[in-house]
Amino acid sequence: MSSTSMRTHLCGDIRFGQIGETVSVCGWVGRRREHGEHLAFVDLRDHSGIVQCVINDDVDVRSEYVLRISGVVRERPEGTVNDSLPTGSIEIGDCEVQVLRVATPPPFPIDARADDVDENIRLQYRYLDLRRERMQKNLRTRSKVNAAVRSAMDEQGFVEVETPMLVPSTPEGAREFLVPSRKEPGSFYALPQSPQLFKQLLMVGGVDRYYQMARCLRDEDLRADRQYEFMQLDMEMSFVDQDDVLEAVSASVLAAAEAATGERPTPIEQITWHDAMDRFGTDKPDLRFGMELVELTDVFGDTEFKAFSGADAIKGIKVDGGAADYGRNQLDKMTDRAKGAGAKGLVWMKVTDEGFDSPVAKFLSDVEVGALKSAMAAETGDLVLIVADEWSTTCEVLGMLRNDIGRPPVHEGPYRYVWVVEFPLFVGRDKETGAPKSGHHPFTMPHPDDIDKFDTDPMAVRSIAYDLVLNGWELGSGSIRIHEPELQRKVFMALGISDEEAERKFGFFLNPFEYGAPPHGGFAFGLDRLVAILAGEENIREVIAYPKTQSGQDPMTNSPIPGDPKSLLELGLKVLPQVD
Ligand code: AMO
Ligand code: AMP
Repeated sequence: MSSTSMRTHLCGDIRFGQIGETVSVCGWVGRRREHGEHLAFVDLRDHSGIVQCVINDDVDVRSEYVLRISGVVRERPEGTVNDSLPTGSIEIGDCEVQVLRVATPPPFPIDARADDVDENIRLQYRYLDLRRERMQKNLRTRSKVNAAVRSAMDEQGFVEVETPMLVPSTPEGAREFLVPSRKEPGSFYALPQSPQLFKQLLMVGGVDRYYQMARCLRDEDLRADRQYEFMQLDMEMSFVDQDDVLEAVSASVLAAAEAATGERPTPIEQITWHDAMDRFGTDKPDLRFGMELVELTDVFGDTEFKAFSGADAIKGIKVDGGAADYGRNQLDKMTDRAKGAGAKGLVWMKVTDEGFDSPVAKFLSDVEVGALKSAMAAETGDLVLIVADEWSTTCEVLGMLRNDIGRPPVHEGPYRYVWVVEFPLFVGRDKETGAPKSGHHPFTMPHPDDIDKFDTDPMAVRSIAYDLVLNGWELGSGSIRIHEPELQRKVFMALGISDEEAERKFGFFLNPFEYGAPPHGGFAFGLDRLVAILAGEENIREVIAYPKTQSGQDPMTNSPIPGDPKSLLELGLKVLPQVD
């Protein structure tokens, strides 16, 4: 499949079995070594790898020249075999070299294994960076994942529908990119944060099962797992409950994982949001390691130690053998970090034969010391960290420390997928109005068992919203949606959104529901994140052909660039001086 009129093989595909055959390969000049009498060894590279060619050095070939080489495959002489290369036992001899194109020397070595090239330079010359093995591998992993996802969705009867890129504002919670309308100066489209509203209207439209490889745009601060533009596998289904959605998504994610890694992961386990917080201190639990949060509230039920007495929740984590690894300085830093995350303090205790070595040991009774040791299953040499606070603060702070201390790097297996279910419907409150805020989005179905808590205890209302988490990364989110306008109004009311505001903001979306909306639900997962983890990369930029830098720039095209005055005029826009 790879042969063309110019080549018979890809460079990296030639093997011992081809010895004696005449072959033609095309590619770029990698390393070049002079070898005595008019001979040079040239590594010719294409996306499949490299092959050593022995050429006559009267041909002027330099780094990154584009060549076509025809010659005879032969065994490498003894002592020159390179076992770390798939083509390491052969070379191409009797070479006829055709220079297809000369090249300016590249700003960084393409074959360098070290990834110490400055990222701005890599992105400025992304087309050269793409020639490197790492990027070639990642792009191909990405393509395999895309293909597997598509075919899994097709097999399950999903229909791919494209939704628009010029849309009104959508309520996903991030800042939007605005696109000025030329025909209506002063009016704007938004770029879609997700196809959420359109996919739900596809359900009203009877599409039944929709999916899309959807480009989404969010103007948020960029991080390792966030870009302005990213891809979602977006899907929505009618006449379903949560299990139906999880099953359909799982089939597609597991197929993608298998395509990328060659191994099909075991079925995905489930944990409730409450248990994830309680045991791992996060709604994105990384299940590759232990160090679970241990409940200690009862251990200190009658304590005299004032930092613990009367606390809503006391929990601890144990660092096996950690006593020797953490000195005073580091423990102070850890305490500051805990405080920075909202804790009132952090108690650390090093386990000794007798009891605990800790600044607070003197405040604890013998009974407490014994009960603590046994609850934590602590042994001499372990380090125990304890937080006493509101339940959520206790969990979150210890969850953060658990990750700080124990979390393996991305490329370390195994892959541990987990569905986190029963998210709270509301998370936190609006600082100004005091109204609860949506956990997922305002169209998420409340848990049927909790409807009566709306007026009495809204923060305790669960929702039928779920996340898929892989090794501590949020891969995706979804929910069963509200399809009854009466229930939707109740949720808006709880959110402090009046009927008028709802009509103004979401009328175009909600009024169609009056025409018979089927029960429906869906999900979207971030393809960039899935591919990054499967490719063992810490940053999604490594699996995106043309990403933006952390500060949102593209050094290759120099964008963003100041608006051209003529275009601004045409759009009726005026740029104001920047004020900080
Ligand atoms: P949500 O906002 O949780 O849900 O997004 C779903 C998934 O998209 C990915 N993602 C991102 N990836 C890279 N860069 C970003 N800036 C970024 N933001 C989000 C994440 C995330 O889990 N419409 C709902 C889904 C639904 O309810 O069906 C939605 O977009 O992997
Ligand atoms: P204090 O009584 O504030 O001097 O704190 C005594 C020790 O207990 C210090 O090491 C604090 O970091 C720690 N501490 C204080 N409050 C808490 C808390 N809520 N949870 C855990 N440790 C705490």
